[in-house]
Amino acid sequence: MLEYSTKDPSFTEEHIREEVDTFMFEGHDTTATSITFALQAIARHPEVQRKIYEELQTIFADDPKRKATHRDLQAMKYLEMAIKESLRIYTTVPMIGRTLEEDIQWNGMTLPKGLMINLFLYCVQNSDVSNKDPEVFDPERFNAENSKDRHPYAYVPFSAGARNCIGQKFAMLEMKSTISNVLRNFELLPPVPDHKMILKNDAVLKSDNGVFIGLRSR
Ligand code: HEM
Repeated sequence: MLEYSTKDPSFTEEHIREEVDTFMFEGHDTTATSITFALQAIARHPEVQRKIYEELQTIFADDPKRKATHRDLQAMKYLEMAIKESLRIYTTVPMIGRTLEEDIQWNGMTLPKGLMINLFLYCVQNSDVSNKDPEVFDPERFNAENSKDRHPYAYVPFSAGARNCIGQKFAMLEMKSTISNVLRNFELLPPVPDHKMILKNDAVLKSDNGVFIGLRSR
């Protein structure tokens, strides 16, 4: 961007700063939050954790101490399903905004061009219209069989359409890399005494009263 700005003066320092802001915000807090919620969900579901750990043991059977390669991350299929399910329930970006570029007919009303609207991705993903028993944490929702008939807009943690998340593939690799590393070294335990998170929308989803996870060294 710095190089480009020397060739095209209309691409100012302000533009560069805006791009950097976007990447810093969209790329950092989102992934950190998603990892946190996924770890606590896994901690609360020992059966899911057992399956993830078994998958990791198979992948690293040759050398349990070696670092994960890109190919290893691709092989973490069940972990990916668990992460997807966590991104569904704990919708990291609960709400997105749009300005309408044309009039839209919706529910017998005309929403006029220029109107700013909010789309609640959290509600879409946690509604029983789009998911059976939406409160149940079940990675199997994302196996091939259960995924094939899903409406394309029923699961949108990275949004959809022209302005969807450009970092989603990278984000999935980051999440798999971090979570697998934690799970290879620690068993996750649910908080004792139990702790009920109070979720809030703070541009990204947050727990207002913290997130507690127990760790036992493997
Ligand atoms: C789990 C992690 C992530 C989640 C849940 C997430 C979610 C989203 C969502 C919902 C949007 C769309 C906003 C909208 O439609 O208005 C978005 C946009 C974007 N994301 Fe991500 N994101 C994640 C990670 C990342 C990472 C790691 C990067 C960069 C390395 C990134 C870069 C961006 C950028 C640049 C945009 C704006 C795209 C545009 O406006 O055309 N995101 N993200």
